Amino acid sequence: PRAGAAPLLAATYVLDDANGLGREFDGIGAVSGGGATSRLLVNYPEPYRSQILDYLFKPNFGASLHILKVEIGGDAQSTDGTEPSHMHYENDENYFRGYEWWLMKEAKKRNPNIKLIGLPWAFPGWIGKGENWPYDYPDITAYYIISWILGAKQYHDLDIDYVGIWNERAFSSKYIKVLRHYLDRLGLWNIGIIAADGDWNISKEMLVDPYLNDAIEVVGAHYPGTKTVQNAILTGKKLWSSEDYSTFNDDVGAGCWARILNQNYVNGNMTSTIAWNLVASYYEELPFGRCGLMTAQEPWSGHYKVESPIWITAHTTQFTQPGWSYLQVDGHLEGGGSFVALTDGLGNLTIIIETMSHNHSKCIRPPLPNFNVMPQRATFYLRGSFYMVETLQVWHSRLDFESGNSSLFQQLHPLQVWEGRFSLDLNVDEVYTLTTLKTGRKCGCPEPPPPQPFPSNYNDDFNIRNPPFSEAPNFADQTGVFEYFVNASDPGDHVFTLRQVVVQRPITWVSDADQTISVIGNFKWVNMTVTCDIYIEKPRDGGVFIAGRVDNGGIYVRHSKGVFFWVFADGTYRVTGDLAGKQILMKGLAGVRDNAWHTLTLNIQGNSASGLLNGYPLWDNVTVSSPGNGWAALGTRSFEFAQFDNFHVEAC
Ligand code: GAL
Ligand code: CA
Repeated sequence: PRAGAAPLLAATYVLDDANGLGREFDGIGAVSGGGATSRLLVNYPEPYRSQILDYLFKPNFGASLHILKVEIGGDAQSTDGTEPSHMHYENDENYFRGYEWWLMKEAKKRNPNIKLIGLPWAFPGWIGKGENWPYDYPDITAYYIISWILGAKQYHDLDIDYVGIWNERAFSSKYIKVLRHYLDRLGLWNIGIIAADGDWNISKEMLVDPYLNDAIEVVGAHYPGTKTVQNAILTGKKLWSSEDYSTFNDDVGAGCWARILNQNYVNGNMTSTIAWNLVASYYEELPFGRCGLMTAQEPWSGHYKVESPIWITAHTTQFTQPGWSYLQVDGHLEGGGSFVALTDGLGNLTIIIETMSHNHSKCIRPPLPNFNVMPQRATFYLRGSFYMVETLQVWHSRLDFESGNSSLFQQLHPLQVWEGRFSLDLNVDEVYTLTTLKTGRKCGCPEPPPPQPFPSNYNDDFNIRNPPFSEAPNFADQTGVFEYFVNASDPGDHVFTLRQVVVQRPITWVSDADQTISVIGNFKWVNMTVTCDIYIEKPRDGGVFIAGRVDNGGIYVRHSKGVFFWVFADGTYRVTGDLAGKQILMKGLAGVRDNAWHTLTLNIQGNSASGLLNGYPLWDNVTVSSPGNGWAALGTRSFEFAQFDNFHVEAC
């Protein structure tokens, strides 16, 4: 006992492989998408973009992730934006849209063994032949998903390891079997189906339907609160937390992540945990701002931040690999907290211990029941083949909520094991990795540039012949998809434009707006002038808008307010206070027609807005009160083709 102090709680734990091992470990991963969470990452200048990717994927470097899960874009809103589909229309195929292909390749470049997962949140409308439902034509849906898998191989040489069904929405046993059948027919036996990326209820159905059970490789639940259910265990399948975390990436977020990485196995037998999301690369004011393992939301400045969850990840990922096995042991520490022990079966041993306290490890969901964690002495006995271990490398983190000076992923002196026995004094809010591996590394990397606000004077003429991505930098599509477009026969001024290309309401995941919209800029902007050349393609009831002070996006896009300046193919214009177009502030005749270029200018200063058409005043003195600030935006009246060119915003 320590002099003058209460005796330290002390307990012993035995790690032994003599009676076999526990479940096979499948890796720690993160999600890009669901939706558009990597949108701003792609436009980072080098060397910063590569540095960020290294922190995420490079083995023995940072988060060193084992798994990358991406959204199979469905042209619809999936949390922080839309991601483009590889098949906008029934006879359309294009495997170069968006950035997930690129991201998967960057991940593979750094870690050829990284596992890849694809999962749809939404589907283009044609999949459901007009119904907001993807299971009426299971052959079509399976064809669509398998096309994505084949396209990944054919155009990017990417082997997809797992595929999911429909994120956090209903599953269909019929569809799952059809999908498995087609995968097998194409020889894609190696691709495992994860289902159903929601609650555990599918396991009940699996127990009474052997064909369904056969079709599924992994039962994946979301935000399981580290617990599973009896039915899931009875399936005998791998159990994963196939989406988890989603917590603001400060030290409490790190605490959440440390706790669930261990306890998803300790309490719930889950052998993989996947964070939503990989990197917070979307405008911070969109829903769930900074809920990524790190932050990279300023491509214009190059600034990014390696947040503490990255180093918590490293505690597990740098010292384990998919294919290792958990040891059979009850990983609850007597003084609170948990440990897991893993081996490669070749003599290596990694033990990860966490002592996160309740208030410092709350995740976004589900609610966390109360528990206590106290300082304690843990004595471990290594038995079986681990009896021979003499030294363990020690990596340590301590989250410090008083000083804010957390110490993250520091290498301490190696620990001597004496006759298979060692003790460790554990404090609260700590993570330890004890391992036979000597490959751990925390880099001393260059500081990224300082943060900067979005440029207050911003132009894009979209004049780029072979763009590296289908989307123009910094435009964050919230309904619809806006792509670079070439008018090959244009006489000169508008050969290269930006075009909205979703012409049918998708099978949605949340409530997309009835209009399409892409936002850009600084959410704090108050006064601004937005100018853009516009081209309505849809005759009669087609229309487009430009906007400022747009105050919402993501899953709330339907409720976006702001100042919207619309022109329509019927020759009229409107000014509205909302995207839905219900709050009309001004309307009249403009003389705009379809299939011709016009220039719109929207000027918002203080409480007053005015609009110009082709440089001439069209309306003015429209009183605008709220919202007081927001992004600039452009978009269309409905799911219709339209083009934009020479976008310019000047703000102050
Ligand atoms: C999940 C969803 C993600 C994201 C996240 C936010 O349920 O799958 O796409 O919306 O919630 O917490
Ligand atoms: Ca142009």
